Amino acid sequence: MYPERPAGIAFGGDYNPEQWPREVLEEDAALMREAGVNLVSLGMFSWALMEPEEGRFAFGWLDEIIDRLHAAGVAVDLATPTAAPPAWFVAAHPDVLPVNREGRRIGFGGRQSACSSAPAFRAATARLVRALGEHYRGHPAVVMWHVHNEYGAPLGECYCEHSVTAWRAWLRTTYRDISALNDAWGSTFWGQTYTDWGQIDAPRANHTAVNPAQRLDYARFSDAQHREHYLLQRDILRETAPGLPITTNFAGTVNCKSTDLWRWARELDVIANDHYLRAERPDNHIDLAMSADLARSVAGGAPWMLMEHSAGAVNWQPRNLAKRPGEMRRNSLAHVARGSDSVLFFQFRASRFGAEKFHSGMVPHAGTDSEQWREVVRLGADLRRLAGVRGSGVPAEVAIVWDWESYWALELDWRPSVDLTFRERVDAFYEALWREHVTVDFVHPSADISGYRVVVAPSSYLLTEASAKNLHRYVEAGGHLLVSYFSGIVDEHDTIHPGPHPGALRELLGLSVEEFHPLREHETVTLTGGDVARIWSERVRPAGAVTVRGFAGGPDAGHPAVTRHDLGAGAAWYLATAPVTGLRELLAQVLDRAGVSRPRGLPDTLELVRRGRHVFLINHGDLPVTVEGVSGVSVFDGVRHDGPVTVAAGAVTVIEAPAAEETPRP
Ligand code: GAL
Repeated sequence: MYPERPAGIAFGGDYNPEQWPREVLEEDAALMREAGVNLVSLGMFSWALMEPEEGRFAFGWLDEIIDRLHAAGVAVDLATPTAAPPAWFVAAHPDVLPVNREGRRIGFGGRQSACSSAPAFRAATARLVRALGEHYRGHPAVVMWHVHNEYGAPLGECYCEHSVTAWRAWLRTTYRDISALNDAWGSTFWGQTYTDWGQIDAPRANHTAVNPAQRLDYARFSDAQHREHYLLQRDILRETAPGLPITTNFAGTVNCKSTDLWRWARELDVIANDHYLRAERPDNHIDLAMSADLARSVAGGAPWMLMEHSAGAVNWQPRNLAKRPGEMRRNSLAHVARGSDSVLFFQFRASRFGAEKFHSGMVPHAGTDSEQWREVVRLGADLRRLAGVRGSGVPAEVAIVWDWESYWALELDWRPSVDLTFRERVDAFYEALWREHVTVDFVHPSADISGYRVVVAPSSYLLTEASAKNLHRYVEAGGHLLVSYFSGIVDEHDTIHPGPHPGALRELLGLSVEEFHPLREHETVTLTGGDVARIWSERVRPAGAVTVRGFAGGPDAGHPAVTRHDLGAGAAWYLATAPVTGLRELLAQVLDRAGVSRPRGLPDTLELVRRGRHVFLINHGDLPVTVEGVSGVSVFDGVRHDGPVTVAAGAVTVIEAPAAEETPRP
């Protein structure tokens, strides 16, 4: 269920009016009109004002603000403020303060200062959310509910006494029998056999590595606890204020490791994502695209909401670079191109005090006589012209496997190399595909992937038997699967699949791996044909697969580095190293063989994305780019194009094709 209002693309952001006097709020309403703001998120951190003492609710101040917004034509995404429990509550219940893995209890003074498992926090949450739901039920300005703020960030796992109690209950429900837990955790190793549930602690920091299966389960458990806290609120809102979509904003699809968003997505009416650029990365628009593609994928291809991004600089990175002219517009439109039906910011007006006073806002400290504000107003106008994009799909022929459980497992202690990280491989493949102008979806390895021509599994370390079978069926039916090293190694308990690596994928890939040969830091190896690779080498023994490229140097010189196993109507490709050069060419070879269509001859600074009848052309480079073969009407200036379209340096052009050319979703 996507919010019915506002119509078109939602534009606005987090609004924290409690930080401002009345005159400023009146000015805000006028400025929102000027910029065309039509949606704000309200109340996120306002628990202390909504419930100044236990059981006494004070919504009058909020009513006034909501009425003012309503009069200005601005709809409200109303938040439950549980990410900021008030001082009186924490003082009365100090046991709610989370404890980190090192055993340090977090103090009051930041936010997210209550453990999702703490009974007092759950009880206070329920009381407050019920009061909020009852008070705002049917309010004409409120169009959706926004639960909490960024579950799992900054503290994904809590190690307090309430967490341990809940953990033992979770383990009992999951394993039923303690011997099943001992088997799953391989607890005969280092003599860790448990004879009673009460002996099991959280996997706290230790002077040595802690049982990896225990840690993996703790990651699952902790994620589930946050979800329970969300579901508690969602269910109360459904009961007290029915009919509105309910969401929670993700702390960045690609950046919040602790939340398994495939599981979360089932519980949300609409997917809401926050994205902040890694300011110093020169090509950070690629990271943005990845975050947006993952949000769309988690939404099952449905429209999603960009709930937060920044108009300019953030304040929490080592060096907080302001956005350059045009960058905020490119960022915003890239999210829309990739399926977002909203462009929302943190926050409307920059704060004068508190930890985020150096964070940009739509209205900066410099006021409205500023580049920043002029860009905001222009963006509002652009988005009104893009209203027709709303609801349309983004076709993709290629998918990348993304599994949070594998992410968790891969990055536990004592792996063959510290250079093996989930994001390193996913980013490498995503970037190469982005530069090839290929739009990708992300998929769970057990999902229905039959509609994709190519599926890439960059570092699928944890792969269940069932998922491996799914990939096998995909290839037999004609799919092209490209797997990179250190995939299919362990099952759901971090136990190595029987036999030589990669146990879950040996047959599918038509090979086995006799020995891993991780490389030294900065060491490289050459491949036949001259490309250079790093991080990883291994001894591949083909058993049905043909060698496409070999190692020309390093510990596996003379042995395969890239293989292909033709199976049924498709092929399973394998890459046994991390290419520094040549990854894009290898991918192009797989894409060509699989018949993936994509524009040719464009520079890799030009982002081209199709959404419904619209083609988004986003020029991230310093030179104009001419794109051939795009015809239709340019949405922002109404000019008709039948053939080449030139996009100025740093600019964005959106071409709307006539209705008949609509591209169906795969
Ligand atoms: C987000 C958070 C916002 C704000 C923002 C600053 O992670 O949800 O409340 O703190 O970061 O970039």
